[in-house]
Amino acid sequence: MTEPILPRKKLHGKVAIVTGAASGIGEVTARHFADHGALAVVIADVQDAKGREVAASIGSDRCTYIHCDVTDEEQVKSLVDSTVQLYGRLDVMFSNAGIGPASAQTVLELDLSGFDKVMAVNARGMAACVKYAARAMVEKGVRGSIVCTASFLADCGAEGQTDYTMSKHAVLGLVRCASMQLAARGVRVNCVSPALVATPLVSNSLKVGAEELRAMVEAVYPGSTGPLTEKHVADAVVFLASEDSEFISGHNLVVDGGRGMNVIAALKP
Ligand SMILES: NC(=O)c1ccc[n+]([C@@H]2O[C@H](COP(=O)([O-])OP(=O)(O)OC[C@H]3O[C@@H](n4cnc5c(N)ncnc54)[C@H](O)[C@@H]3O)[C@@H](O)[C@H]2O)c1
Repeated sequence: MTEPILPRKKLHGKVAIVTGAASGIGEVTARHFADHGALAVVIADVQDAKGREVAASIGSDRCTYIHCDVTDEEQVKSLVDSTVQLYGRLDVMFSNAGIGPASAQTVLELDLSGFDKVMAVNARGMAACVKYAARAMVEKGVRGSIVCTASFLADCGAEGQTDYTMSKHAVLGLVRCASMQLAARGVRVNCVSPALVATPLVSNSLKVGAEELRAMVEAVYPGSTGPLTEKHVADAVVFLASEDSEFISGHNLVVDGGRGMNVIAALKP
């Protein structure tokens, strides 16, 4: 009897880093990378206990946890260096770590120290991850893929959350510049822009419990087969990380089921 020919897994043999992978979208995407055949997935976060748990549940043979605060450039450099030392190269960087708005503020109440904290993680941290991932790929001649998590708020205004919205616009600027600058080296840079997913970031930002948030998220996607989940976002990231998107760079892949405007209405302060 002849063996069936199985489809090749999308990330077969790839070495990937996922930042912010102790929770939410990052955690589910790290698992998805492993399911899609990644040789190694390095989980980076500041929540050490949770990050180690996720890594152990994926399996120590192909998943490692490394503490990394993305606001600290040295820690980001060391994360990338350690990955290359451990696994020989870096093929995929999913730069996803992020925090929510400091408050529901309009520009009239903008608290600039809260603004600095949001920008430090969501904009500066993202830039550091792209910088060191791109350097590692260029140095080794790897035709890699860098995917950043932006947001449905990256390309439109919002009635509140000025700091967060600005930080996500910065991600779009970073992706647009880096994709042009790295194209000749064969490194692709894209972002994924989810609408509302029920994660701890949102529940902390909106100050609602998990149940209330789930109901809120359900209401944003009426008539759909269900609410937007981490898995929908992870599918989009796998596409951008894999060779299925080999000629796509500088793209903002919005994952909102066409309901982004419903989310904006739901977030009115
Ligand atoms: N949930 C949504 O509705 C939504 C929508 C659009 C975009 N996003 C973006 O998705 C990304 C993931 O968020 P999530 O919703 O999964 O939330 P989450 O809170 O579940 O996950 C965020 C992770 O980032 C980590 N993190 C925070 N600061 C960090 C730092 N300085 N260094 C390293 N890790 C850090 C957290 O510890 C956490 O594990 C964020 O960039 C967020 O802005 C989320």
